Amino acid sequence: MTNWEQIDTYVRIWLKEARINIIDSFKKTLDIETKSDRNDLVTNIDKETESFFVNNIQEHFPDHHIIGEEGHGQKIDQTNGVLWIIDPIDGTVNFVHQQRNFAISIGIYENGKGKLGYIYDVVQDELYFVEAGKGAYFNEVPIPKLTDTKVEDAIIGINSSWIISNRHIPTANLHRLVHDSRATRSLGAASLEIAYVATGRLDAYIAMRLAPWDFAAGKLLIEELGGKLSTVKGEPLHILESGTVFVSNSGLHKEILDNYFLSIE
Ligand code: IPD
Ligand code: CA
Ligand code: CA
Ligand code: CA
Repeated sequence: MTNWEQIDTYVRIWLKEARINIIDSFKKTLDIETKSDRNDLVTNIDKETESFFVNNIQEHFPDHHIIGEEGHGQKIDQTNGVLWIIDPIDGTVNFVHQQRNFAISIGIYENGKGKLGYIYDVVQDELYFVEAGKGAYFNEVPIPKLTDTKVEDAIIGINSSWIISNRHIPTANLHRLVHDSRATRSLGAASLEIAYVATGRLDAYIAMRLAPWDFAAGKLLIEELGGKLSTVKGEPLHILESGTVFVSNSGLHKEILDNYFLSIE
């Protein structure tokens, strides 16, 4: 039997420890490298934070499986057993440029079923936590279930580059959505933007390419609160696959899919 209480206790200790190292790094010179292109950054702190979690998990839970963005985990193509999906710093560009607006994101699944999710806003010291089936919390305070909103009253989280061009939704449809909504915002850290939908600060979040570590924790949070996540075509998300992600309260999810994403102009 998996001891979820023990896992939760460890994760909370490790998040606080990781925070100390990350905040400390603000005083030092970062070692910054690029990955797929010049705007895709990784730093020594992304790598250190990931190996800190991976080493601790391997020490305390040697039979658990781990996927981490920076590759310190294993190469996993199945969801058997307990699987940790970790983004050590979600929002690396913000981490480097702003020293804020980034998070540690951890989703823990058992045989493909979501169990625990943590999105930790490191600088604010704010934790979004979900235990699937048992509740979602912001700094230990229960988060109320999501209520439906309408496009005309909605703040939509979307990166403006997707509005200029993308391969999934005709830009004319997105222009109309931006026009019809109350406002758009872009924070630059997918896990936090999903947590913002969970707490009603955003009504929807749309991304054209996210990886499992970007949404593994957020998926559990949103589902616990009665919201919806899918691809922009309305298909279910798979926890081991990258692709488009569309997150919203359930009423707005349907309104946007029906009137903006599935109708071609
Ligand atoms: C990125 C951020 C960003 C999103 C990218 C992600 P990273 O994560 O979440 O907001 O638009 O798709 O890759 O690389 O900073 O962990
Ligand atoms: Ca990255
Ligand atoms: Ca990320
Ligand atoms: Ca990352």
